Amino acid sequence: MSRILLINIKKLLQIRSLDTSYVSGKEMDVLPFIESAYLLINNDIIEEFGEMKNSPKNLEKFRVIDCKDKMVLPSWCDSHSHIVFSGNRSNEFIDRIKGLSYNEIANNGGGILNSVDILRNTSKEDLLKQSTIRVKEVINQGTGAIEIKSGYGLNMESEKKMLEVISEIKKQNNITVKATFLGAHAFPREFTDNKSEYIDLIVNKMMPQYNEARLIDFVDVFCEKGYFDINQSERVLSKAKELGIRAKIHVNQFNSFGGIKLALKYEALSVDHLEVLTNEDLTNLKNGSTIPVALPTCSYFLGINYAPARKIIDSGLPLAIASDYNPGSSPSGNMNFVVSTACIKMKLTSEEAINAATINGAYAMGISDKVGSITKGKIANLIITKDINSINEIPYSFGSGKISEVILAGKIIN
Ligand code: NIG
Ligand code: FE
Repeated sequence: MSRILLINIKKLLQIRSLDTSYVSGKEMDVLPFIESAYLLINNDIIEEFGEMKNSPKNLEKFRVIDCKDKMVLPSWCDSHSHIVFSGNRSNEFIDRIKGLSYNEIANNGGGILNSVDILRNTSKEDLLKQSTIRVKEVINQGTGAIEIKSGYGLNMESEKKMLEVISEIKKQNNITVKATFLGAHAFPREFTDNKSEYIDLIVNKMMPQYNEARLIDFVDVFCEKGYFDINQSERVLSKAKELGIRAKIHVNQFNSFGGIKLALKYEALSVDHLEVLTNEDLTNLKNGSTIPVALPTCSYFLGINYAPARKIIDSGLPLAIASDYNPGSSPSGNMNFVVSTACIKMKLTSEEAINAATINGAYAMGISDKVGSITKGKIANLIITKDINSINEIPYSFGSGKISEVILAGKIIN
């Protein structure tokens, strides 16, 4: 049995009871903490924590970590990623810098289908190897739970390959993983002229088979002009409902044309992107129970609008933020940078951004009973900061970050 005791923690941040599965509106500006604290880990679980004066005394029973001048917070919960992909799209990066838009690049034969071509020609072993390097990278950057989407296979065999790699990542690493089937990410070239047949393949073969094989936790659709329209998206969502799988949907990245209404009709767990959000969309969200997820580094990288995060929070809604780690629109999974960008570009306070990237991120993956806060019984996924005086130093130090160590399921990661 391994027990780790963190002592002299300057501030233990994001302390919540199990009843809090997410925070919304004004509550997002509050990050409950204990000053001068200890925290005890038993195997992979947070066993106990409190004021330092109540810390266990017989230190020889524990592996002790002195956190003097450091703060401790729950690891980042990244609720939207495409971290399993092959190769990269750095060629498109230069095209974009020279003036082409994301959609112009896609229409010229690049974009998602470019990644599909590469992934189909990559073995499962190689895909796992490439993806594991990125997973280890984000673990070191403080991510303790991550949602990973398929969507670069777009046929029976290659979507399965992606989902099996996600499942393997889950087995081989201590990071908490949720798998999302995104067969409706783009229409593969072989179905350009008969799109409804591709939807048939998704709903009649892919979804039932992968579900049967227990490879998927959620279903996603890129509901966007030029990708999946409302009717096509609805076919996928209604099948998901029939199979009892919750949806998490890409909506309103470039256009607002009814995707949010559709998501709410199907009680999606989350709606992600929202760079283009109308007042009607906002009102609809307020009447539903779907959590909005903003992806600030996608906006940063593509130079597109940022989701109106201030407006979302000020209207009383919850907000999660995630990395969208993918080769086309956000080739980074660094949640420290996501948190900084949410503050700098979306005008969130440090408290709001940290709530958005921890408890609310956990909620957007359906796992806020297990991760996302400092709560007895939750998984011991923790970030130990460097010496800092204020939590504002976390988003402030963009690019370098303020992490000294991370603990993942009770294991110290170097
Ligand atoms: O979330 N918008 C759709 N999917 C990804 C981009 C995928 C890609 O370009 O490879 C996104 O931004
Ligand atoms: Fe995405």
